[in-house]
Amino acid sequence: MNSTIAQLKICLAQALVATFGDDYANVDPILVPASNPKFGDYQANVAMSLTKKVGKPPRAIAEQLVQNLDVSDLCHPPTIAGPGFINLTLKPEYLQAELQAMQFDPRLGVAPVESPQRVIVDYPSPNIAKEMHVGHLRSAIIGDCIARILAFVGHDVQRISHVGDWGTPFGMLIAHLRLSYPEALTSTENLDLGDLSTFYRQAKQRFDADAEFREAARLSVVQLQAGDVETLRAWKIVCELSSRSYRATYDLMGILSFIERGESFYNPFLPEVVAELQQLGLLVEDSGAQCVFLEGFTNKDGKPLPLIVKKTDGGYNYATTDLAAIRYRVQVDRVQRVIYPVGSEQINHFIQIFQVGRRAGWITDEMEFVHTPFGLILGDDGQKLKTRSGDAVPLKELLDGAIAHARQDLEKRLQEEGRQESADFIDHVAQVVGISAVKYADLSQNRTSNYIFSYGKMLALQGNTAPYMIYAYVRVQGISRKGQIDFENLGADAKIVLQEETELVLAKHLLQLGEVLDLVTQDLLPNRLCQYLFELSQKFNQFYDRCPVLQAEEPDRTSRLMLCDLTARTLKLGLSLLGIPVLERM
Ligand code: ARG
Repeated sequence: MNSTIAQLKICLAQALVATFGDDYANVDPILVPASNPKFGDYQANVAMSLTKKVGKPPRAIAEQLVQNLDVSDLCHPPTIAGPGFINLTLKPEYLQAELQAMQFDPRLGVAPVESPQRVIVDYPSPNIAKEMHVGHLRSAIIGDCIARILAFVGHDVQRISHVGDWGTPFGMLIAHLRLSYPEALTSTENLDLGDLSTFYRQAKQRFDADAEFREAARLSVVQLQAGDVETLRAWKIVCELSSRSYRATYDLMGILSFIERGESFYNPFLPEVVAELQQLGLLVEDSGAQCVFLEGFTNKDGKPLPLIVKKTDGGYNYATTDLAAIRYRVQVDRVQRVIYPVGSEQINHFIQIFQVGRRAGWITDEMEFVHTPFGLILGDDGQKLKTRSGDAVPLKELLDGAIAHARQDLEKRLQEEGRQESADFIDHVAQVVGISAVKYADLSQNRTSNYIFSYGKMLALQGNTAPYMIYAYVRVQGISRKGQIDFENLGADAKIVLQEETELVLAKHLLQLGEVLDLVTQDLLPNRLCQYLFELSQKFNQFYDRCPVLQAEEPDRTSRLMLCDLTARTLKLGLSLLGIPVLERM
């Protein structure tokens, strides 16, 4: 089943050809949702764009087009407004038939894409040996959501974490452990990442203060890069330890599993990458370093800025590794699209490596490499979220806090309502609501903006929040419990009949999921899906306030039950694409 917008576009394309000839087959009909519901559901603005080409006033173009436009299966007769807007209003018969088909479709009318792409979503990639902090929260939540949506619409999605698991910090850490905690390098049994962070902090202090230690650290890096067995073993222990702890946090957050292909993975390819840039004539030596001079980036004096790919000491850096990853993803993974959900502070890094990737011929015009930047998470004071001592807040702490707040809210509500629930129920609801609230608060913002992290706001039962959305779902489940309704067996002749305004409004909204997902796969803005689900809950509530369901007479009763069920299923599917589960009761 095609989305309504796709079906209307086909009709408009046919009308354009019938009216003006084959040359017009690929003209964009400029079909958009109506700016005001009183004009209908959709409007085609193509007439205004054709005045020059056709040589007539837009209104005349619109009139001619409408004569050849057959949308009778979907719409009431089209009308023309203003200078030449073609207004389209969907017919109840069409809505009824589409919803009826949706009833038996587990994909709820969202057709899989015609040409699936191989896509890599670059996963949250903390720098190993440091604790995951709130900065990695957004990358995990946004990356997970984008990957879920792309996979759902039919793309072949790989999730790859580009963890920082190589280079100087490791030399430092290994040297420190060797000198002060040799036992940590034999067994990780009694260590956790908290210890590792402490080690890391100590190592850093030592590195800054002690020249002899700096030398030991440098030596460890050399040994690591040369593949020294003992050093590699120490490195592996550190990596395993942190990876174990990251996974626990990702599991708590409900982030789907992924491949870990850290910076170390690309180490063997770095010399080839630089050699290839050299052969292509892109490499220039600048004060002992090997660089590619960037187009469009200049320093204060207007001179092109270099991107260093091999440092004066012969070492490679973050950019070299990312270039190797681009080359590998193109040549080995044969990827068509790569998405990097990484903070806005790395915008230039990505513009630069993509530019070099293109100039090297690795990235071609058929491929899309996109950085999907996001803003900061702020505290109440409007400053970057920090602990009292000024450190970045560990992610685990933030999530535990959300669960604790959700539990408090729940216990208070249970008391007010005089309800008794088991400890398991309370644990489960608090965990789902707490984590979902954090995720939803993040996804519901346009990702490019900063936002203030507030437990109170994100856990509110009213407003554009996860609890509100989950509650709308619970409400429908309550109807089925109360009326002992089995939504899956409403009878073979169950029919949708739409009469009330609130029913029509809800029906139209239910049919728009595919359109919304289509937009999100293009601009990678998950807040569009949140907004859609929020409006769905509101429209459902308006319908439910206006239209009796269990008390209604047939055929309205069954039809309304179907609307309830479709709403619940759409909420459940939509929330699952955000990485948020639903509850049957809360
Ligand atoms: N490790 C980096 C950081 O924590 C993020 C890596 C993002 N991915 C990439 N391919 N550069 O800032």
